[in-house]
Amino acid sequence: MAAKTVDEILEHLDVFDPDQRENFVDALAEARTRCPVLHTESDGGYYLVTKYADVRTVCEHPETYSSANPAVKGALPVRLIPLDADPPEHRGFRQLLNPYFSRSFLMRYEADMRKIAQDAIAKFIDRGEFEAVSEFAIPFSAGSLARIVLVTDDQDLVDRGVAAVKRTAVESTPETFGAVAMIAMEAMAEAEANAAGREDVLAAIVTAEIDGAPLTPEQRLGIITTLFLGGLDTTRGMLVNIAYHLAARPDIEARLVQPDWWRGELDEFLRYEPTVSFMARTVTQDTVLGGVELKAGDRVVPHFFSANRDEERFEHAHELDLDRTGNPHAAFGLGVHRCLGLNFARIQLAIAFEELLRVATNFRVKPGTDIPRQMGVPLNSPESLHLQFDRR
Ligand code: HEM
Repeated sequence: MAAKTVDEILEHLDVFDPDQRENFVDALAEARTRCPVLHTESDGGYYLVTKYADVRTVCEHPETYSSANPAVKGALPVRLIPLDADPPEHRGFRQLLNPYFSRSFLMRYEADMRKIAQDAIAKFIDRGEFEAVSEFAIPFSAGSLARIVLVTDDQDLVDRGVAAVKRTAVESTPETFGAVAMIAMEAMAEAEANAAGREDVLAAIVTAEIDGAPLTPEQRLGIITTLFLGGLDTTRGMLVNIAYHLAARPDIEARLVQPDWWRGELDEFLRYEPTVSFMARTVTQDTVLGGVELKAGDRVVPHFFSANRDEERFEHAHELDLDRTGNPHAAFGLGVHRCLGLNFARIQLAIAFEELLRVATNFRVKPGTDIPRQMGVPLNSPESLHLQFDRR
């Protein structure tokens, strides 16, 4: 495996090629000045949109840039609602889901989430070291997601749900998603039988009507799949990214013990290394973007990571500056598809570090360990991260 140079990358850019990872961020910087809307033949051919203003244009004009096929590669056999819906259909789905993802609604699950974090930490606290992805980020984010989505009193179903979601977090294949979908259908059948008086997202999905009609089984499954797909790697990746900086920079711990860090510093972590680095759109009518003529049917990929590093929008964009104020980053997207789970992500990340830093301090990377990094939707997020710490 040889790291490709910036010029090689710009010639045949491929957002999934591991050989492009090492110099990919530099290649994006070069693209922003040389060819901000860059064409590549990869994955059937698409235009990569690298500048903040152009990413905003794409995301804010769903009538010209449709989300009907939002994956750059490997479309799933199910719909991805609301991610793959355009207005006006999109609006009904968001109206249904938004109330269950408000901060005040999600705080009902705070005690459960703290318990999930504490249980994960209890397993490694006496050892003075842990592997942050498998021992903390995955059990915590998969457990929290299963807790708010698979709401049921059937403990066996919850346990199976958490196990299936964890497997998906480790390995995203049609099989692992199929297993989650089976459990989601079981949970929905249970919710349908006991929906009276229940106030949770699953009960809402099975009882909801949009324009006077209940959701079809395909729509229900499409929503559940998107919640799992959208909620797993994303939060897990951010947790690990932040854990890395906590170990790498001595000034970070003092920041993360401040009760309000998730309102300020967290946005800078999100800007600097967002874990959804891109998503796809399809052009619906001929148009011009960044001086490049686009035809109906062309594929366009707004790159959120690149937008967040655009010096025209963010001063010293290549620095993680925790004192940055006014931070309109694109980590959660822009426009109508802005992340449904952003409050959930913030709450989880706040709880994760509160619980961790309550019992542990002085984090450092375990000597002699490698930090392999991801290439793909999460860009540069550690695949594994061995940390050591002192007990408080
Ligand atoms: C730090 C963590 C997260 C990041 C960085 C993130 C990022 C994003 C981004 C960039 C989009 C916009 C995609 C587009 O424009 O095509 C998005 C949409 C979405 N996210 Fe997140 N997300 C995170 C956490 C979550 C969580 C925890 C959930 C939920 C359970 C979630 C559910 C969704 C859904 C359902 C959408 C589609 C919204 C729509 O189409 O209206 N996300 N997310």
